[in-house]
Amino acid sequence: MSPVQEQLFRSSAHDQDVVELLMSQHNQIKQLLEQVQAAPGLSKREPFEELVRLLAVHESAEEEVIHPTARRVAVNDQIVDARLQEEQQAKRELAELFEMGPEHREFDQRFRAFAERVVEHAEMEEKEEFGPLLQHSSAAQRASLATAVRVAEAVAPTRPHTVGGESALSNVAFGPPLAVFDRVRDAVRDWRRQSEQS
Ligand SMILES: [Fe+2]
Ligand SMILES: [Fe+2]
Repeated sequence: MSPVQEQLFRSSAHDQDVVELLMSQHNQIKQLLEQVQAAPGLSKREPFEELVRLLAVHESAEEEVIHPTARRVAVNDQIVDARLQEEQQAKRELAELFEMGPEHREFDQRFRAFAERVVEHAEMEEKEEFGPLLQHSSAAQRASLATAVRVAEAVAPTRPHTVGGESALSNVAFGPPLAVFDRVRDAVRDWRRQSEQS
């Protein structure tokens, strides 16, 4: 475990409940989906990148620790499998939207359909997974699981701060969505494996 991860792990005892944290991220995701749609032309790029970052953090933590825990505590395999499939699909769609770029004439239409599916996915999770998780796990377990989200946060690339509104370098610094997702997922996976061994 890296020093950052160790620090995060130590502070997790009094941390937020993972379900609370993920629900608040659902709200942030919804806001970013709206911001991308509302922004004109190329200025969509900034909220889009912020959305990629947040989805990489959020979905990696869900994929690596929340869905497996939900399966263990009470949630039907078919329900969890459906959510995992939606997450894989969202990842592919984000990559396609990134390739397309906000200047493409089909971007808005494709993004709107993507946004609807992401919101639906989040609502299904809240209804069918988070409820049973709250019922069948302890507050201490959920506080510990919140560490996965913090590990993801710690490794997700951030957009470079720009001076005078210049943001042309952001693509280079940020990288394509699949690379961002892989990097975050690998870190959460390492954390999970290490915490399972200890
Ligand atoms: Fe999810
Ligand atoms: Fe979620």
